[in-house]
Amino acid sequence: MPDNALENLALGAVEAAERAAIAAARLAGRGDKIAADQAAVDAMRKAFNDMPMKGRIVIGEGERDEAPMLFIGEEVGTGEGPEIDIALDPLEGTDLTAGGKPEALTLLALAPRGGLLHAPDTYMDKIAVGPGFPKGVIDLDRPVEDNVAAVARAKRVPVSEVTVCVLERERHQKIISEVRRAGARVVLIPDGDVAAVIAASDPTRPVDMYIGQGGAPEGVLSAAALRCLGGQIECRLFFRNDEERARAAKTGIKDLDRKYTGAELASKDCLFIASGVTGGQLLLPVSETPGYISTQTLLLSSAGRTRRVITTQRLAEQI
Ligand code: FBP
Repeated sequence: MPDNALENLALGAVEAAERAAIAAARLAGRGDKIAADQAAVDAMRKAFNDMPMKGRIVIGEGERDEAPMLFIGEEVGTGEGPEIDIALDPLEGTDLTAGGKPEALTLLALAPRGGLLHAPDTYMDKIAVGPGFPKGVIDLDRPVEDNVAAVARAKRVPVSEVTVCVLERERHQKIISEVRRAGARVVLIPDGDVAAVIAASDPTRPVDMYIGQGGAPEGVLSAAALRCLGGQIECRLFFRNDEERARAAKTGIKDLDRKYTGAELASKDCLFIASGVTGGQLLLPVSETPGYISTQTLLLSSAGRTRRVITTQRLAEQI
């Protein structure tokens, strides 16, 4: 694949994310998360099919029999051009969108074939920090207290100045207590652990690390973002039952207990794209004014080492 083949797809991928964000935003606050998700999927798929690539969905909306579109294994694009693997979450924060709450995003990552782990749609235990830390500062297998202390040491600050972001879930009570017992601060979020990992990589945001269990697809998307931003993430799939284990085996995962580093989840240079749907601390929401629709999108490239924030205005009649 030519060196610039992935970069050449960037604008098309931004278009796909923005179209999905606009479609989902139109259903924000209407209490129907399935309709909002479906609208995002439909818009994204339509945009993908104008992109000059042999695209294949590796992280998508579930298996072919469960999801009508953008299922794992689905081929997208014009069928001409580079072979690209795509991880996507057309609407990250379906409940946030349905409730008209902030921080819902449209997400996707593109890499050359084989560059993104084919993760099943199960849970994943994750720990992540942003750039600037020594390699190995965090370890999923170490106690929470030790990870918090290692981050404090690396930052040369007392543990009381470390902030850990955690999804507010009953299953995270133990992690939350352990972080607080260690002396660090906890920031609880209702949803959206990819945005939390990105927040940890932003020196202007008061978050040092992310710990907790969320979706495995979101884990791969987070790893793609960190490959571009320079942080570290470690993850392990978590299965609630044998049916989920079987699903993982079907995606080709042999060692179900394996701990993955970010470089194993996103193993080749990639693009990461996020568009704001309801907007929040990372990106502005979709906004519709008479005649225009505005969107804001984050475009990261690991090969280019670039972080672009793109504001787009479309004539409303184009949508
Ligand atoms: P959705 O896009 O499915 O709404 O996911 C939102 C999210 O908060 C993810 O960011 C996170 O990884 C996952 O849900 C956690 O799952 P659960 O809500 O089941 O705890």
